[in-house]
Amino acid sequence: MSAKAGASPKRRPLISGNWKMNLTHLQAIQFIQQLSYALEAADYEHVDVSVHPPYTCLRALQTLLDADRIPISLGAQNCHQQDAGAFTGEVSAAMLSALDVRYVIVGHSERRELFAESDAIVAAKLKAVLAGNMAPILAVGETIEERQQGDTQAKIARQLDSALGDLSKQLPLSSQGNASRENLVVAYEPIWAIGTGRSATPQDAEEVCGFIRSQLAELFDAKTADKIRIQYGGSVKPVSIADLMAQPNIDGALVGGASIEVADFARIVRYRLEG
Ligand code: PGA
Repeated sequence: MSAKAGASPKRRPLISGNWKMNLTHLQAIQFIQQLSYALEAADYEHVDVSVHPPYTCLRALQTLLDADRIPISLGAQNCHQQDAGAFTGEVSAAMLSALDVRYVIVGHSERRELFAESDAIVAAKLKAVLAGNMAPILAVGETIEERQQGDTQAKIARQLDSALGDLSKQLPLSSQGNASRENLVVAYEPIWAIGTGRSATPQDAEEVCGFIRSQLAELFDAKTADKIRIQYGGSVKPVSIADLMAQPNIDGALVGGASIEVADFARIVRYRLEG
């Protein structure tokens, strides 16, 4: 399939860099300066770009992006579900929102596994992000065992239902801010593909992303499902991005390892030139 076909023209692609626990605020400033040199104004016409650094980088990057008018959105990797209080070490949605954070990843498999975030916690975090007028990037995905046992769809349906099930009636389709159904983002991240160098094939990724869209149509309605961006994540690299983006239900990528290499991340953002 032609790499130029790209995601549906109905949805603007979103390429997000999940830095995980990497880069100090000084390294982050240097990274964004280099990335902004590597990208051209025309690149941003086709694609939205977000970076999700550690919390300690957010203020420095907010200032830099604003001062240099760099059209990259600021993202976070997590937030706490409560508004405020005695939660030592945690950061609230309101604190992120005050730093102009636009997107917050919720339910990343590393949070679910290493920090024991249950579906119920993920659902509460997603609501907190929306209450802070930010757009959640809800991460879902199966383990290799679940895939081998044919449980991929059941697992993902459960994760989507738990996180989005009771939003369907409250949330407007669109709004001036970021908290709307059309600004929700879902990231399909098969756990076996994260950090392993073993990406899902474009066909396998498309199959699950298509399933996610059909579930979104059931949870919300077809019009909403048509608007929501679905990213693929898991060992995305410059060599694999074009074929992934050529799939009709893949509207972007959530990139880990390759997002902290300036040249690689720039090539992923400019996926139209790859392949
Ligand atoms: P990876 O990470 O690109 O290093 O596989 C993706 C992610 O965890 O979001």
